[in-house]
Amino acid sequence: NHGVAPVTYGQGDRPPRGDYATAREDYTCEQNWSAYTPAEHDLYRRLYERQASQLDGLACDEFIDAVRHLGAPDRIPRFDELSESLYQRTKWEVVAVPGLIPEEAFFSLLARRKFPVTGWLRKPEEFDYIVEPDVFHDLFGHVPLLFNPVFADYMQAYGAGGMKASRLDACELLARLYWYTVEFGLIHTPKGIRAYGAGILSSAGELRYSVRSPEPSRVGFDLQRMMRSRYKIDTYQATYFVIESFQQLFDATAPDFTPIYQAVRQKEEIEAGAVLPGEKLYSADSGTN
Ligand code: PHE
Ligand code: FE
Repeated sequence: NHGVAPVTYGQGDRPPRGDYATAREDYTCEQNWSAYTPAEHDLYRRLYERQASQLDGLACDEFIDAVRHLGAPDRIPRFDELSESLYQRTKWEVVAVPGLIPEEAFFSLLARRKFPVTGWLRKPEEFDYIVEPDVFHDLFGHVPLLFNPVFADYMQAYGAGGMKASRLDACELLARLYWYTVEFGLIHTPKGIRAYGAGILSSAGELRYSVRSPEPSRVGFDLQRMMRSRYKIDTYQATYFVIESFQQLFDATAPDFTPIYQAVRQKEEIEAGAVLPGEKLYSADSGTN
């Protein structure tokens, strides 16, 4: 599928994949680029090609324009080189981590404008489906939009907001915001509905489904509606949320969430895919622009 939000770290029946023994206290580690095999670079190239070939008409322009910053498509990028060009543009950096990390560590890195990227690459048999995020999902899905100044600031604000949510015991509510924006967000553009979420953009099948299929519900951005909405982790989403601009996303999430968490706790949860009475939905993209 896609990337699972880092909130799943330490849950479930398996420990996370990856070597945590050599990680620093903040969970960052060396990328150890020279350890990637030619077969891994080739697998990355095939993943990259599969996704890059379907971005047109499905991904937002900000993403399409920034993918080139990832560098040569035929090998796994060196994080230090990528960080250099990213830092020049938005003062963000990419840092290596062994895999999923605890949420406090994740929030703290984001708040310092460091994006954690998993070192390992999936196995060839996981070409179409992967349970935990790997280097391809983290890089191809997440890093291009970090070159966008407004989205870059949103990610930092999210990190700081996460540290606050930990103190307020509201991480589960905040994680839904991450899920429905950073991982599975859609944006309404002059050309039509387009994807900006990393989980969609790194998925072979969900990219087209999320933008063009008549099946899922596409609800306009609404912070409380989002925080009340459960989500699916093992199938395509039944509901997507649509923003009008990255500035809308940044502005709507700028207020103090303390009273918002309280308000959301008073209200009922919404099942994945449920539509509320009178709710206006966006229709699927026609694919003609
Ligand atoms: N404004 C939020 C708060 O006060 C922080 C936040 C910003 C959370 C952006 C998510 C995204 O908690
Ligand atoms: Fe992700």
